[in-house]
Amino acid sequence: MDLDLERVVCRLTEIEPQGGRAFTIGGGDWPLKGFVVRVGGEVRGYVNRCPHAGHPLNLLPQRFLTPDGALILCSSHGAVFEKSSGYCVAGPCAGRSLTPVALEVRWGFVLLADSVDVQALAQAAEAAPLAEGAS
Ligand code: FES
Repeated sequence: MDLDLERVVCRLTEIEPQGGRAFTIGGGDWPLKGFVVRVGGEVRGYVNRCPHAGHPLNLLPQRFLTPDGALILCSSHGAVFEKSSGYCVAGPCAGRSLTPVALEVRWGFVLLADSVDVQALAQAAEAAPLAEGAS
């Protein structure tokens, strides 16, 4: 089976173990902006949009985690999320979750899973309701 280059997120080795990695796939008005993090020997992906106020979670391309690497951190107002589930355990959107992006790993590359419709996911994430009181 060939690699679909338009669905390649990055090489597995390009994911900073203590930070993660941002990616953008697709074009036009609705590119899919997401990020990937390592969870043990696996990789998880999420849309890069905080359920609190809708901001990207990172300020730098490879900085998505708390300093100890245990949780995903939103740099805007400090919400923290489980790496394995995207569930917000503390912060202004506690109890909400990041939007997951299904991934596959093939031959050392991280790819969007075949089931991911890039445009539909990007639009749905953009339209998702934010936490109450967010501005
Ligand atoms: S936008 Fe993420 S905590 Fe406010």
